[in-house]
Amino acid sequence: MGFRILAIESSCDETAAAVIVDRHVVSNIIASQQEHRRWGGIVPELASRAHIERIWSVVADAIERAHMRCEQLDAVACTVQPGLAGSLLVGANFAKGLAVRYRLPCVPVHHLEGHLLSGFLAEPHLQLPAVVLIASGGHTLLCLLESPSTYRLLGSTRDDAAGEAFDKVATLFGLEYPGGPAIERLAKSGTPSIAFPRPLLDDPGYEFSFSGLKTAVRRYLVEHPIGDERHRADLAASVQEAIIDVLVGKTIRAARQYDVPTIVVAGGVAANARLREQMQQAAARIGATVVVPERQYVLDNAAMIGLVAHLKLELHGPDRYRRLDFVVDPTPWRIHRHGAPSNARYDAVFSL
Ligand code: KG4
Ligand code: ZN
Repeated sequence: MGFRILAIESSCDETAAAVIVDRHVVSNIIASQQEHRRWGGIVPELASRAHIERIWSVVADAIERAHMRCEQLDAVACTVQPGLAGSLLVGANFAKGLAVRYRLPCVPVHHLEGHLLSGFLAEPHLQLPAVVLIASGGHTLLCLLESPSTYRLLGSTRDDAAGEAFDKVATLFGLEYPGGPAIERLAKSGTPSIAFPRPLLDDPGYEFSFSGLKTAVRRYLVEHPIGDERHRADLAASVQEAIIDVLVGKTIRAARQYDVPTIVVAGGVAANARLREQMQQAAARIGATVVVPERQYVLDNAAMIGLVAHLKLELHGPDRYRRLDFVVDPTPWRIHRHGAPSNARYDAVFSL
């Protein structure tokens, strides 16, 4: 059964809205906040204020580009966890307001389940099982997607996320936020000649740890202050290579262990061309296919939230989502913090 869904995503620093009709994206609007650049990282207060300022026009834009009116919707959906508390609240409350005004069900969605299923936005007939790497500024985790709604969490980061590592190291190099694109640009003219650590790469599990890398770079800089542009480019290339080696190494090991035909790379770090290239080469050696959704679906976006909502509505019907008393939960999704064992199985459709 097909549903017309307006989805809202506001968990971090992107104000996003999308209209999904029968699992297809008909509009996808993303307003990335620029106000954090000068602070070298996301300032939560600024983020929630910017969401408030923009959410109405972003939603209106999504509806208009879909050539629809709110009266034609079957449901609204919103991200409720994890993320910045104030930011999540803006999107969730806006969605609830629309639900009351237009008497619609409101589907709460887990942000990471959005990234997890974003492969379907690139490839509607995604071959499962798939190993999914989600690497962004807030999260780094590996999942085994067994069916469109069932997944196992194989491992997550113990400390910094991969994107966060790019961002923090970039500030040490005097580069602007967000650091990932800045490091990638600089790395193009450098050689990965400096041997920075590959944390946990040889560890048999699927956990990540990137905070040590930042410390290693800081120590290196004490002994070898940045000389010329060439040195800075080599530093960028070396850090990028260290992070990518870990991401690719662990993902490929999981793909081999679970013998999957497909690897999906999602989250902002998937925008990195070197990561995609290395992943594709390594996957080809084990006969797996790499799927990377296009940029508008790897960055934080509402299309992926609408897709998860569609799945939930198909399985449960709208009445289950008439209650509007759900709350937002900012807690980061990390295995050790949740006390969940590695390999725990989750059901995306039932988790919220
Ligand atoms: O998914 P995203 O837009 O937002 C969340 O963090 O949820 O990801 C943003 C992160 C930032 O840490 C940024 O530095 C990183 O993705 N990123 C990149 C690249 N583009 C964005 N990292 C490496 N290379 C890139 N080209
Ligand atoms: Zn995200």
